[in-house]
Parts: sequence; C-alpha cells; structure tokens
Amino acid sequence: MKFVAGLTCHLCGATYPAEALWVCADCLGPLEVSYDYAAVKKVMTRSVIESRPRSLWRYLELLPVEEPRTGFNSGFTPLVRATRLARELGVDELYLKDDSVNHPTFSYKDRVVSIAATRAVELGFQVFGCASTGNLAGSVAAHAARLGLPCYVFIPHDLEPAKVLGAAIYAPHVVAVEGNYDDVNRLCTQIADRYGWGFANINLRAYYAEGAKTMGFEIAEQLGWRFPDHVVSPVAGGTLLPRIYKGFREMREIGLVSGQLPKIHAAQPAGSSPVINALDAGLEFPEPVKPATIAKSLAIGNPADGFQVVKVVHETGGAGASATDPEILDAVQLLAQTEGIFTEPAGGTTLAVTRKLIAQGVIKRNESVVVCITGNGYKTAEVMMGRVAQPTRIGRSLADFERALAPQASQPAAARA
Ligand SMILES: Cc1ncc(COP(=O)(O)O)c(C=O)c1O
Ligand SMILES: [Zn+2]
Repeated sequence: MKFVAGLTCHLCGATYPAEALWVCADCLGPLEVSYDYAAVKKVMTRSVIESRPRSLWRYLELLPVEEPRTGFNSGFTPLVRATRLARELGVDELYLKDDSVNHPTFSYKDRVVSIAATRAVELGFQVFGCASTGNLAGSVAAHAARLGLPCYVFIPHDLEPAKVLGAAIYAPHVVAVEGNYDDVNRLCTQIADRYGWGFANINLRAYYAEGAKTMGFEIAEQLGWRFPDHVVSPVAGGTLLPRIYKGFREMREIGLVSGQLPKIHAAQPAGSSPVINALDAGLEFPEPVKPATIAKSLAIGNPADGFQVVKVVHETGGAGASATDPEILDAVQLLAQTEGIFTEPAGGTTLAVTRKLIAQGVIKRNESVVVCITGNGYKTAEVMMGRVAQPTRIGRSLADFERALAPQASQPAAARA
C-alpha cells in the first residue's frame, strides 16, 4: 500500500484511511481508493510493467493491497483482433477483450475478487462472501478456497445450474435467496453489518472495484500503449465501466499513455436496463427496475454504481443501448461463428449493443473499438441448446458416412486424381 493515499468519497470528496470502510460517513457516497500518482510515476514505467508476470498484478503500484495473495494467473487475458467479426459488423479495427478465459473461473470477476480477497485477509476478516448474479459467487468461492477462508456466497434462487455448481464445487456455503439480486444484495448488507463478515462487493467494494481497472490498463498496454477510439462495456452493478475509465485516466496521469481518452459505451439487456433508461431520460441517478432477462449475470435492477456509469458515459462522449433476448442470443452465435469464442449472454449483450452502435454510426468504420467479453458460454450452455444443429448421427461404415454426408463432402481423393 506504499502508494495508496487513502479513500475518498466519490460525491463530497471527504477523505478516509484505507480501512474496512465503504460509504462516506458524511453523505453515504461510495468511497474510492486514491493514490500518490507523483510517486507512482517515478517507478511504474512501461519497461518495469513489461518485465513482470502476465497477470493483473503487473500493475501493483496502482492496486490497493500490501502484497498479492491470490489471482497470480488472473487478468492479462487475450486482446483478440477480430477481423472476421469486424467485416461482418462493418468496421476496420475491432478487438475483443476476452475475459471468458480469465483464470480461474472464466469471467471478469476474477479481477475484482483477486483484490477483494487479498484485502479481506489483510484487514483480518474471518469470513469472505458476496452477493452475486452467478459469476462473482464462483470467483469468490474459488479464491476463498485457495486462501483457506470460510466462505458464504448468496445468489438468487433461479440461477443457471452450471453457475451454481461452479460455485458449489469449491465448497462454500451457497445460499439461494428467494428473491432477485437486489433482494440478495439488501440481505447481504444487513449480514455484513451484523456479523462483520467481508463481502467482496459490499463492505470491501472500494477495493474490489480497483480490480476492474486492470481491464483498462491491459487494453491500453495490449494495443501497444495507446487508447482505442471506443470501448463497449456491459453494465450490471456498474463496477466495470467506470473503472475501465479510471484505469485509462491513471495511465495518462502517470505518463504511460498519451492522447484522447476513449468514448465508453454502456450495454444492458432490454429486460434490465436502468442505466440505459437513465441515459435516455437524461437522469443523473438511474431509477430501479425489476429485471427479466436471459442475461442473468446482468440482471441487476438497482445498480450500486449506476450513477457513476451515467457520469462516465457522458464525460467520455459515449452512448448506451440495450439488446433484446433474441438479439443477445444472435450475438452469442455470431461471435462463436466468426471468432471461435463462446460467451454467455452478458457477452452477447455487449456485442449486440456494439452492432447497434456501429449501425447507428455512433462507432464509425475507420474508428477502433474494443468489446469487453466478460463471461464464458459453457456456464449458460442451456440457453443455446435449441439454436445449434444436432450432430448428424450415422452408422460405423464409410458407406454410412457417404449416405449421410457425401453430397456435402468434397470429392474423394481418388475421384479427384
Ligand atoms: C459476465 C459478467 N459481465 C458483466 C458483469 C457486470 O458487472 P458490473 O457489476 O461491474 O457492472 C457481470 C456481473 O455481474 C458479469 O457476471
Ligand atoms: Zn461524502
């Protein structure tokens, strides 16, 4: 924590020490970690970063921990140049930030949990937990297992089976609440308060959020220390989008990257789009909604950091759009069939919105765009079941094969000769 200056209230600017605090005592605003950038600038150079292991800890001076304890392979996921998809969408320079292969639990959440779990140990919490729409539960449970921390994860009762199993396998207490995510979150706030447990996205939220910045750091580094023109980010609780921006600003502040900051665009499913509604209506604070969407990881009706998303979208000259369930599933298939990447509906939402923004001319053909793919399709396989071809079943002989598939197969080698 050599470079951490403290916690600052995002609303009123009050400052606090970097302890187990998460809301401002004066105005209840969210607290953010601030750093001594002048000191960071002296030590955190491009070559120092490039010499370090390929994980999110390569940006250690701008992360709020004493010493990394988990997540040694989290982050530094591929930035994929997507040429076939770009052609399909009508742009020249399209990249996918592919957190569907993040380690160890295949979503962007391994970034935020690496920091929150490390900080939970440092602050002496005896129990580590979270309120989750699925991916966070898996990540919290995995990192808790590795650290030997007792763990409770709270989820809505109707999550996809693979998300539930993907948490339960690490043997935390999985608590399925009869309600939606917003009910889960409310309950967890009360539990954190009464029992003094460390919840990654509640009382450890100031630290947790810092992990999301690493997606911004990596995008700029992997583009060769430059910013793209556009970034499209999914929004649920609203952690990721404003922190990608914070990451970009910090890189500029310490002189690692220069130039214009990207426009950052928000993507939400039509069935859970409080932030897009707020952008459309010109509201500063999103009005809560009741979520109903196939993109369950984005089904948050009352986003904790929704107002920060609205602010960053405005500040960067970005836009927002929502995608319907069929548009989301079409986009999941398009991504798989053009780039060989299988994402969950959260990634489909982000890509479907990107497609709209390109069609609307918000993102222009000659401008570069990074699409954040934040989750893995294998966790939600059932949503695609009716949309893919069944295997062609055949007998065991060559004749069986030829009867079933020969008209589509190319000429046999002997016939060609
Ligand atoms: C796959 C995936 N993408 C995106 C998000 C949205 O994250 P945030 O809460 O940071 O807006 C989530 C979180 O719930 C998620 O699971
Ligand atoms: Zn305040």
